[in-house]
Order: sequence, then C-alpha cells, then structure tokens
Amino acid sequence: MSKTALITGGTKGIGRAIAETFAQNGYNLILTYSSDSKAAQNIVQEIKNTYTVEVDAIKADSTQSASIYHINTYLQDRDVFLDVVVFNAAITLRSSFEDTIFEDWDRVFYANIHFPVFLLQKIINRINRGGSILFTGSLMGIQPHGTSLSYGVTKSATHALVKNLVKYLTPYDIRVNGVAPGFIDTDWQLTKPAEIRRNIENKIALGRFGLPQEIADVFLMLVDNQYFNGEIVKIDGGYSYK
Ligand SMILES: NC(=O)c1ccc[n+]([C@@H]2O[C@H](COP(=O)([O-])OP(=O)(O)OC[C@H]3O[C@@H](n4cnc5c(N)ncnc54)[C@H](OP(=O)(O)O)[C@@H]3O)[C@@H](O)[C@H]2O)c1
Repeated sequence: MSKTALITGGTKGIGRAIAETFAQNGYNLILTYSSDSKAAQNIVQEIKNTYTVEVDAIKADSTQSASIYHINTYLQDRDVFLDVVVFNAAITLRSSFEDTIFEDWDRVFYANIHFPVFLLQKIINRINRGGSILFTGSLMGIQPHGTSLSYGVTKSATHALVKNLVKYLTPYDIRVNGVAPGFIDTDWQLTKPAEIRRNIENKIALGRFGLPQEIADVFLMLVDNQYFNGEIVKIDGGYSYK
C-alpha cells in the first residue's frame, strides 16, 4: 500500500531534497511553503514527471496559526492518513540582541516551535501507527553561534522537543527523530557573501558546505531504520570552531 509524507517547507533546499528522496521511495507527498507558488508548482510538476506518486503543494505559512487549520482541513477533506511528517520549515532573525523586538522574537518561536507542536496535536489522529515524525534541527542548536539568538534557542528547543515527544508518541506507536545539519548549500546559505562562506568552509573539516541530498538521505534512514527513536543525528562535515 502506498505511503504518504507531509513535509513543511518542502519546496526548496533541504525540504525539496527530502521530498524528492521520499518520492523516489514511493511516498505520495503533501508539501507546504510560505510564498513562492512558482517554485512550488515547479517541484510538484518535476516530481509528477519523474515518479509515479501523487504530490500536492499547499501554501501554509508557519508563522500564521490559520495555517494549522488550513493543513488539517486539507487532510480531512481528502481523508488523507500520513505515514511520515517532516517539520522542516523554520525562520530566523538576524537583528542584533540590542535591536531585537519582542514581536520578531515571538514570530521565530511561533514558526519554529509552537507551530509544529500545535499542528502535530491537530493531526495526530491522522498519522498511521508505525509512522514517523521528523524535525529539522540545526548544528546551531548544539553549538551556540553569534548570528541569531532566537534561531539558536529555537533549534535547541527543537532538539529537546524531539526527546520529550517520545513519551507522548509511544502510545500512538509513532517514532520521532531529528536531524541537525551544519552548513548546507541552499538559498539560505548561498545568499551569504563569498568571504563569509570561505570563513565557514575553513571551519569545516571536509572543507565544503553539505548538499541537501546528503541531509535528505539521513531523513530516509531515520524512517527506514525502525530502532531510531528520540535521536538527533548531527551531520556537519566535521565542523569545529577555530
Ligand atoms: N541551509 C542550512 O545551512 C541549514 C542548516 C541547518 C538547519 N537548516 C534548517 O533546514 C530547514 C530548511 O532550510 P533550507 O536551508 O532548506 O531553507 P530554504 O532553501 O530557504 O527553503 C525553505 C523552504 O521552507 C519554506 N518556508 C520558509 N519559510 C516558511 C514559513 N514561514 N512557512 C512555511 N514554509 C516556509 C520555503 O517556502 P517559500 O520559498 O515559499 O518561502 C521553502 O520551501 C530549516 O529548518 C533550517 O533551519 C538549514
């Protein structure tokens, strides 16, 4: 029987690579995105052209509580049951500590933590027994970094959420794991100035940014290997502060 995966932020970067990897493995897909409908249509078409799976993209900005209702209604109306849910969408905030205002801080926490928790609460009965929940964490949630306080703290919270959820998901026979990527070549990183990218590369033992596909492979492994539960897999090419 075919399986279905819901992937938030599934139309670009790491989420897109996860979507392609799961499509390759026979999963029907529901992808969410926040604003770029053209990119969403492109990935939907590309997957339809390449794999014999069903795929759809829903505009559902995870900074908005209405998106929880929207996703849940989409699943209810089509009577979709899920086997995999990937909470991948996240936002950051780059203002300095001194200039950070509460509303912006709150928005990062809403998108990165509150949204997945309350979406999960809403759709838990639509996740099949034996299913898997996955979160995209970050190296920044393990090794504090000076670029965004709210991002680092919410990614640490993502890792804590994975571990705390195990107990709550066990009665549903659902596993939960996370992946903590280092620096990965997506739009998020490609927009950084060349000098900053070089500084980062110099701190990575392998001397390069990771590829979205290298991260997606770990997500698939966490679903396929059914003894992983409550784990955060760090994948960073051997990053260390120098
Ligand atoms: N790239 C890295 O180096 C790196 C490292 C560690 C962790 N991560 C984590 O990996 C995840 C994906 O990052 P990425 O680098 O792949 O980003 P990306 O290439 O910028 O792709 C982001 C994806 O998420 C969607 N998205 C963005 N904001 C959203 C929102 N508010 N609501 C719903 N969807 C939203 C985007 O849709 P639109 O285009 O429509 O906005 C797009 O599909 C994030 O959780 C990030 O924290 C990334």
